[in-house]
Amino acid sequence: MNSVTVSAPGKIIIAGEHAVVYGYPALLAATDKRLRLTLHIKGDLPDLNTLRAQNLAHLIKVISKLSSVKKLDIKSEIPAGSGMGSSAALAVALSAAWHKLSSGKDGAHYDVINDQAFQLEKLQHGNPSGGDNTVVTYGGWLWFRKETSQIKVFKMLANVPTIDHLYLLDTGKPTENTGQMVQQVADLRERQPEKVTAAFEGMQQVARGWLEVMTSGNTKIVPDLIKQNHQHLLDIGVVSNRAKKIISQIEEAGGAAKITGAGGKSQGSGMLLVYHPQVEKLVKANVKDKLQSVEFSEQGVRYE
Ligand code: PMV
Repeated sequence: MNSVTVSAPGKIIIAGEHAVVYGYPALLAATDKRLRLTLHIKGDLPDLNTLRAQNLAHLIKVISKLSSVKKLDIKSEIPAGSGMGSSAALAVALSAAWHKLSSGKDGAHYDVINDQAFQLEKLQHGNPSGGDNTVVTYGGWLWFRKETSQIKVFKMLANVPTIDHLYLLDTGKPTENTGQMVQQVADLRERQPEKVTAAFEGMQQVARGWLEVMTSGNTKIVPDLIKQNHQHLLDIGVVSNRAKKIISQIEEAGGAAKITGAGGKSQGSGMLLVYHPQVEKLVKANVKDKLQSVEFSEQGVRYE
């Protein structure tokens, strides 16, 4: 019997979500919440890409029924469907486990794992940028751009400055999944190309502003960058009324906030990234007690 345990982190999109699907740059960061996957097999595994499934959850069921699979155990600390990279973590962990057991090779072959995970992200979301699986594979802070569906360029950022006063806040699980949110933006882009392109161009400026934060350590512009990013996300219609209200209250109390992933339209918009230098000012907005700490992580996928 062969067995492997692998873990992969969750992620936050710091800037450029949705725009990244259309070739604009994004900044992403891995977080310390992780998903762990253990796979025991006896015999050979098929090529993962030959298994037919409608989405990742279905693929897990299909895998569990393979005669060579004796155990597939998945435990995750990453909130599901909330823009925190839960599906990317599953795609990456599964790809890493599969790679090790079917190739027998030790060590993490990040490029192979990342390419395989991108195929699984496509199964899950239809038209992903590849940013989520890449930051989850490599960990840390990542500057990412999709040039074509085959060619992605990215750079791990070193010596990232500490950014204080950042928190997470849950606005509730979206009823729409990432694929549906990406499709809504595609539909809006068909109807109102100028408006959506202007929002994407604005998000590109925000992402470049973050690069300045990363390279010069000038963290003073962080709240403005978060606010601007949020305005552009409003323009492309991926923030629900519930999340809009919470973000307005945070801004009125002197802070800034934005979604961390694909967002959501009709109910929750998933997790927010919140900046506030004095959280006691958020008591009135009834938000302070709901803030969660956010920890970034250098650690990408790893065998345990
Ligand atoms: O909500 P998540 O974690 O699935 O993030 C999706 C990010 C998008 O930019 C909306 C899509 C993508 O593929 O990059």
